[in-house]
Amino acid sequence: METRKNILTEPIVDIQNVCIRYGKDPEVLSDIKLTLEKGSFHFLTGKSGAGKTSLLSMMYLALKPSRGTVMVFGTNVGYASRDAMAGLRRRIGVVFQDFRLLEHLSAYDNVAVPLRIKGMGENEIKKRVKELLSWVELDKSMDKICSTLSGGEKQRVAIARAVINRPEILLADEPTGNVDNDIASKLMKLFVELNKLGTTVVIATHSKDLIAEYNYPQIHLENKGLKIIPALRRI
Ligand SMILES: Nc1ncnc2c1ncn2[C@@H]1O[C@H](COP(=O)(O)OP(=O)(O)OP(=O)(O)O)[C@@H](O)[C@H]1O
Ligand SMILES: [Mg+2]
Repeated sequence: METRKNILTEPIVDIQNVCIRYGKDPEVLSDIKLTLEKGSFHFLTGKSGAGKTSLLSMMYLALKPSRGTVMVFGTNVGYASRDAMAGLRRRIGVVFQDFRLLEHLSAYDNVAVPLRIKGMGENEIKKRVKELLSWVELDKSMDKICSTLSGGEKQRVAIARAVINRPEILLADEPTGNVDNDIASKLMKLFVELNKLGTTVVIATHSKDLIAEYNYPQIHLENKGLKIIPALRRI
């Protein structure tokens, strides 16, 4: 008999006994466990090469674990069909470390993609995309083709595309790595607001300043393992 699940406490991401390795290389992460509650906010930390991008790729269902179980939105992704995986992915916003924008399209069209996939009307799309691109201070660059944008501008387009659809999970890989401190604060504000609306957020970062200022718990990767460093209590 199926047990009745408590929706309030069911984790949105549940990773159990997972190993990640590429081909025959040694394991990058070994036997990790991670449970993310709905509406939580974590930084993802660890040295370069520790496996942050790999872990985010797995949560985005772009990388299969070599061992263990990954459940996202209560679905065991190891048994999910292609269509089901695509459906799950549409509920996740992702900011890739290397942006992965559609370089031949404008900033506006890149950000509009998730809304067009959803079938939203162009008037509503225009309103939303313009508002968000203004917020990330790209109002003057909206019509520029992405390949002509600076690294920091591309990063903001990637962030806007990831959040425009208010995803249930936001995975952001070094999202403030290419922008100045003022813009970084603004982007963090965006993530915090989204989190207040219910989005579960994971942000990979090397920035000690960001971690100290925002004081969220850390998922810390070290020696192929994972530990949670709780948020410090403010006095
Ligand atoms: N596609 C791949 N094929 C083979 N090895 C890979 C691949 N992607 C990552 N790796 C290896 O996995 C390890 C972890 O890489 P990953 O990119 O996850 O680290 P990271 O913590 O994100 O590092 P950084 O802080 O530099 O972004 C590295 O040793 C890397 O060489
Ligand atoms: Mg990385």
